[in-house]
Order: sequence, then structure tokens, then C-alpha cells
Amino acid sequence: MAKSASEISRLNAKSTFSKADSDIVTSSSVLGKPAKDFPYPAPLTEHGNAKIISVVNQKGGVGKTTTTINLGAAFAELGRRVLLIDFDPQHSLSIGLNVSTRDIEGSVYNLLMDESTQVSDFLLKTSVPGMDMIPAHEDLSGAEGGLVNVIAREKILKRVLSTVTDFYDVILIDCQPSLGLLTVNALTASHWVLVPLECEYFALRGVALLDDIIKKVKANTNPDIELLGILPTMFDKKTVHSREVLERISEAFPAHVFDTTIARTVRFPETTVAGEPITSYASSSVGAASYRRLAREIIANGGVR
Ligand SMILES: Nc1ncnc2c1ncn2[C@@H]1O[C@H](COP(=O)(O)OP(=O)(O)O)[C@@H](O)[C@H]1O
Ligand SMILES: [Mg+2]
Repeated sequence: MAKSASEISRLNAKSTFSKADSDIVTSSSVLGKPAKDFPYPAPLTEHGNAKIISVVNQKGGVGKTTTTINLGAAFAELGRRVLLIDFDPQHSLSIGLNVSTRDIEGSVYNLLMDESTQVSDFLLKTSVPGMDMIPAHEDLSGAEGGLVNVIAREKILKRVLSTVTDFYDVILIDCQPSLGLLTVNALTASHWVLVPLECEYFALRGVALLDDIIKKVKANTNPDIELLGILPTMFDKKTVHSREVLERISEAFPAHVFDTTIARTVRFPETTVAGEPITSYASSSVGAASYRRLAREIIANGGVR
């Protein structure tokens, strides 16, 4: 639901005075660079032409699902129409938004496997106004095998999503921790890749592998795909270790590390139990402020309108 200009400026005013915003650790501050500011964007007067962002890292537990839910909620607060796709057979995104696989009629699996289905058959509203989602189910793990003999099997999700891009402003795909056919489907459907990266030493090795896959997808099924950015997650400002990892990521990918980082805080696991985004569960927390700032950073950089 679009917010009026006055509502947005009210949110703006609230965040200016909240302690949380100044508590966010930024890459600039860690790297000793000038501080950046990402303004509140104007409300959209029309919707559609959605930018599709895959949230990918082949390692589990790095913050993909947390990022998908909370970044989506932050975009929705800015009046963007948001669709989240749970694209992991472990369906953590569905769980994190309080959707039980027992209660659903079908999932993204049906959309992949049965051409007669439509997105609207499985679309669910979330507790966040303006944010919808398509759930996943364990059966999604059978999709890779089930699609082996299908022609253009890498492009199925792209076809499915093309039917709803006119309605949404941003579609976020929460990928599973692997670089198999499902993730290739997500990458083939996407304009952008967002890589949450846990700030620990071995994290960088995985990025090189991911970079290879992005290049392969670019060469074969989706020439338009680009890296939107690497998001430092689980950042602990008290440790030298987190800072060193951030420095190394920034050396390896100078133009591609988000200024906003996500700190390690117990508030995130709590939100999963609560079944809602941190932006509503703990609205004035640093975690909520961080994902709000990330949404503004992505809009300011032209990743999303
Ligand atoms: N910034 C953070 N600080 C602390 N815990 C986090 C943070 N981000 C995510 N978590 C927790 O870490 C676990 C893994 O996060 P998740 O987003 O599910 O990762 P992935 O989708 O990459 O497997 C979850 O329990 C989640 O609540
Ligand atoms: Mg996940």
C-alpha cells in the first residue's frame, strides 16, 4: 500500500530522532571513508516493472532468509509493492512469516511443475501491508529431478514471474543454500543478485564460486544479470575479526559492498519465533533500522525504483 508523502516524512522524522540509525555500523565508518546518507525516496505514483532480486549464497545460515523478509518489509514501508518468493525446500521464509505448510493449497513447486497453474493460485498476503509472498514446501526438493527432461528448464521461474512483474515494484527470491538448478532458475529470472556474507574468515572463498556461477548464467541464460551487492551480515563491531573480514571483502569487490551492514543480534532469531519481520516485531531496534537503511541505499543506487 503506497504511503502518502506526509506519512513518509513522518517515518523519516521518527527515524531521524531514533537512536537506532546512528548505531548502524557502516562500511564507510569501518574503512575510514566519509559517511554516506541515503535519503527517503519519494512515493511512487505508479507501480510495476518489478526489479527481481535473488538473495543467494551457497552457504546456509548467513542471513539470506532474514534479509529477504526484512528487506522486503522495509521496501513495503516505503510504499513499494513487494513479492517474496520462498525458493528453498526448507521453507524458512514461510515459517518466518508464520505460514505453515499444512495450511497451504500449493506452493512455488506447483508453479514450476504445472503450467496450468497461476501465481494468484498460491499468493498469500503477509502481515506487512503491501507485501505478498509465495510459500514453499518440502516437495520443492523434488523439483530439480522433476525438471531434468523439461526443455528450457532454467527459465521456468522467469516465465512464472513474468506474469506478475506489472503489479510489483520489487520481487525478492530467497534461494536455497546450493547452486543447483533451482538457484540457476532464480538467477535466470533476476535483474540483480544480493549476496549476504557472514563476516567470518572462510566466507570469501564461497563468493569466488558464486561469482563463477553468475558469469555462467550471464553467458548462457540471462545476459542482463548483475551483482547488486554484498551485504555484510552478523557483523560484530567489538571484534577485530569482523572488521578485517569487511576490509578484505571490500578489497576483493571494491564497488560492490553495501555501505549498510547488519549487526549480529539476538533480535533476529526472536523474529522467526514471532513469525513477523523485525520492522514490526522490534520496530525501533537497530536491526530494523539497518534493513530500512539498506532499502534506501538500494533505491538511492538505482537498484529498485
Ligand atoms: N544479523 C543477525 N544476527 C544474529 N542472528 C541472525 C542474524 N541474521 C540471521 N540470524 C539468525 O541466523 C540464523 C540463520 O539465518 P537465515 O536468515 O535463516 O540464514 P540462511 O537463509 O542464509 O540460511 C537464523 O536463526 C536467523 O534468525
Ligand atoms: Mg534460508
